[in-house]
Amino acid sequence: MFKFVDVKYMDILDVPSLFIEKGKITTLVGASGSGKTTLLRMLNKMLSPTQGKIMFKETDLVDINSVTHRRQVTMLSQNPVVFEGSIRDNLNIGLKFQEKSLLSDDALLSMLEKVNLKKGLDTSPNALSGGEKQRLALGRVLLLNSEIYLLDEPSAALDDETEETIIHRVTEYVRKDNKTLVMVTHSKAMAEKYSDTMIEIAEGRCQSIRGCKRERSY
Ligand SMILES: Nc1ncnc2c1ncn2[C@@H]1O[C@H](COP(=O)(O)OP(=O)(O)OP(=O)(O)O)[C@@H](O)[C@H]1O
Ligand SMILES: [Mg+2]
Repeated sequence: MFKFVDVKYMDILDVPSLFIEKGKITTLVGASGSGKTTLLRMLNKMLSPTQGKIMFKETDLVDINSVTHRRQVTMLSQNPVVFEGSIRDNLNIGLKFQEKSLLSDDALLSMLEKVNLKKGLDTSPNALSGGEKQRLALGRVLLLNSEIYLLDEPSAALDDETEETIIHRVTEYVRKDNKTLVMVTHSKAMAEKYSDTMIEIAEGRCQSIRGCKRERSY
């Protein structure tokens, strides 16, 4: 799905070769400042390599329109934004931006359940905790039903138990529809348990570790 060819980004990343497979779950792990967010942003065309190229389905990313690309490849940033209005407005706003039809309250409530957010649709997001805001933003991007998701530490602000619930549900959702997921996580244990491939970044270089525990247990 994505193929890196001799990619460099300033002096931050140096990736001679890397594949990200379609329909698989790939996790990115590494120390703070190692370049995980930078790599994810390159996949979303928020950043372009300063050297080399990234192929997306056989086409060089530089030849793909950024807006078109981001409709297929949806990114949840590390510090998600919460918009004015209610939880309902926040869940629907991504669909509105993409000029897609808004969803019924039932569909929105079912997404709130998926992201483990036990709040009413009329609640103001200002009253939510940091971790709850993050789950709201996660719900908003999952509703877009994109082909590819890039999630930057979706469980960073969560306790261990909620983290496991969220990662379990997100990976289940992605696998059910054969979507592709690239997710940054601080937890190697989660990465090994739930992903097909773990990419470890150290000093700007990537090492791919295939066949995580999930695969081996089958
Ligand atoms: N626009 C930029 N210009 C210069 N340096 C940058 C820029 N963006 C990030 N960096 C640097 O690149 C390195 C990698 O940053 P990045 O945000 O990708 O790390 P990360 O692995 O996501 O870290 P964290 O786990 O803390 O989120 C850091 O040293 C950071 O200071
Ligand atoms: Mg980061």
